[in-house]
Amino acid sequence: MTDLLPVEPLHRLRERRSAKWRAYGPEVLPLTIAETDFALADAVREALADAVGRSDTGYAMPTDGLGEALAGFADRRWGWQIDPEAVTAATDVSTGVVEVLRLVTKPGDRVVINTPVYPPFFDWLDEARTELHDVPLTHTEEDGWRLDLPALDRAFATGPAAFVLCNPHNPVGRVHSPEDLATVVELATRHQVPVISDEIHAPLALPGATFTPLLTVPGAAEIGVSVVSASKAFNLAALKCATVVTGSPRMRDLVAQMPPDTRWRTGHFGVLATIAAYTHGDAWLERLLATLDDRRTLLTKLVRDRLPEVSWRPPQATYLGWLDCRGLGSGTVPRDRFLAAGVALEPGTRFGEHSGYVRLNFGTSAEVLELAVDRMASAL
Ligand SMILES: Cc1ncc(COP(=O)(O)O)c(C=O)c1O
Repeated sequence: MTDLLPVEPLHRLRERRSAKWRAYGPEVLPLTIAETDFALADAVREALADAVGRSDTGYAMPTDGLGEALAGFADRRWGWQIDPEAVTAATDVSTGVVEVLRLVTKPGDRVVINTPVYPPFFDWLDEARTELHDVPLTHTEEDGWRLDLPALDRAFATGPAAFVLCNPHNPVGRVHSPEDLATVVELATRHQVPVISDEIHAPLALPGATFTPLLTVPGAAEIGVSVVSASKAFNLAALKCATVVTGSPRMRDLVAQMPPDTRWRTGHFGVLATIAAYTHGDAWLERLLATLDDRRTLLTKLVRDRLPEVSWRPPQATYLGWLDCRGLGSGTVPRDRFLAAGVALEPGTRFGEHSGYVRLNFGTSAEVLELAVDRMASAL
């Protein structure tokens, strides 16, 4: 059995100064922002400590080994062949998506997204001065949340300028199947809608699910671009490093038009930590996935035993739970009730028109999760 990752006790976690730990007072357990509470992978810690030891705190050399490290990782994990020369550094995934959107749209164009979705998707569309064309995910009891392919076909037929795909999907944790992705590529090609695939959660496909990189789908490289990062799995959000990946000359020429300065805005520590994670982080990542699998099982049991008014479908990827709390009230009422009981969660209304849902971050210790559910149960 894989050794699970340790998490420091709560009083030590509270010493962290990141947004997750500073947004609420000490009386609240924050299970909000998508950061995890695990200790860093040794390879990452050493790379950062070495850099600090050298006073190596200057600008990033964004081409120095980043593409090669990602190519090795993507090949080992997903059999995805990436040309290191087709990897462009970006400050973070948000910047990468917005910069590609700026290349394929003009102000006022429509961009398709699928709600419920990670809230900054709305902001990215605004930043690129484009308009939202929502094609909500569908939901069934048997199959959970998934892409609505007939609705995407109808939407693409109206001529949107781009589609931003979330793969795997935050907040519902769906790992899109190769068949669904093949249909997306077929529709995008037929209607000539460029696809920007946000694959930040890709390394977090949990046991039982297999992630399919969009660009491995036949034909996708001609119409799609992927934005990937080690930051979610390895908890490197502070360090600012992501990569835009292409798989065809057409898309490579497009991404080459990104403003040249964007790649100089990548964090030096981000590049160093990402290379360390991609090159030496496989064993740690396996432990992370086993740990998240354990927390997913624990949360399933806790919800069943302690929160009978709440239902959820354990995610295939990510450390995020999308809890249906409509039985407790509409709008942000469930979030407000849980917050009053001392647990901060993201209200579903931030992800689209999802009244009565909350998103819970279970990337933490069993103790914190049990304490959180105790408090949530007291709110019912
Ligand atoms: C789907 C998705 N995309 C992008 C981001 C943000 O990535 P970055 O901090 O690299 O901009 C997140 C953060 O949680 C996310 O869940």
